[in-house]
Amino acid sequence: MKSENAQPPAMRTRLGVEEPDDKWSGQMDEQKQGRKGLSPGSMIGSHFNIVDQEKFASAIQLLKESLWDKGATLFSADNLITWNKNLSFLRDPFCYGILTDEHASLSEKSIIWRTYILLHFAEFACAVEGDFAEFGCYNGHTALQIVRKLDLGALGKRLYLYDLFEWKEGDAHTRHIGLDNPNMYEDVCERFCAFEFVRVIKGSVPGSFEQGFPEKIAFAHIDMNHPDPEVGALKAILPRLTRGGVVILDDYGWWGYSPQKVALDPIIREHGLKVLELPTGQGLLIR
Ligand SMILES: C[S@@+](CC[C@H](N)C(=O)[O-])C[C@H]1O[C@@H](n2cnc3c(N)ncnc32)[C@H](O)[C@@H]1O
Repeated sequence: MKSENAQPPAMRTRLGVEEPDDKWSGQMDEQKQGRKGLSPGSMIGSHFNIVDQEKFASAIQLLKESLWDKGATLFSADNLITWNKNLSFLRDPFCYGILTDEHASLSEKSIIWRTYILLHFAEFACAVEGDFAEFGCYNGHTALQIVRKLDLGALGKRLYLYDLFEWKEGDAHTRHIGLDNPNMYEDVCERFCAFEFVRVIKGSVPGSFEQGFPEKIAFAHIDMNHPDPEVGALKAILPRLTRGGVVILDDYGWWGYSPQKVALDPIIREHGLKVLELPTGQGLLIR
């Protein structure tokens, strides 16, 4: 991956904060006294569901002014605002490669914390019996990161990618801009043509499983923004999810998609499993 050794532009190389006057000054002093630590990292990306960008920007400015480090460690993207965190993904060469990739969109960069979690568990699942699958692969951005980071071919694992690859008036699923591309399916096939272990399946989940479905599943990423296909996918996945297998539910923790949580929780309970809701909005399930 290119740019692996460079530094993220938003990361600072020195602490560079103003004198704190609040109760956290002790913590700050420890760093100043030369305890070996990390330089602060920060990142500002895009969010969803904001109706007044100007007000939001003012709020972020006020937030920075109110913080002990004046925003030197601020992360604000993907409806997640944090400070005083190490932000390990900004220090990870692979994730940094995504952040500096000129072909990656602002929203693909803004979901970096999600991608970092997804890649962590995809790597974990490499040691688990079974294949990989993504249900709702869209333009293949996330799947491509998995393929670039992990040598699934050498591990003898297949990656199944499912999507409708289109949207038309009256369809139940969310309209994403890329779905207006009449050649989306062909473009995604082209994107993965160098990876013979990737299978791209066009059609509505779960009906499209007739075209191919893994016998055993080590890793599944479900991201269709709609409860009906997600219920269909999960019902087919869970009986084939092997011991140690991982399911990441991209929309599980988003209140705007809460009908998905309501629909999926009983199926997960039936299988004696539990989902951990992550601050990124993802749901994590491990067998
Ligand atoms: C949010 S996008 C997925 C983004 C993708 N996972 C990524 O990270 O780049 C949701 C996708 O789900 C697909 N989708 C929605 N309903 C579907 C269904 N019934 N069958 C197959 N795909 C579906 C849409 O076409 C869309 O591409």
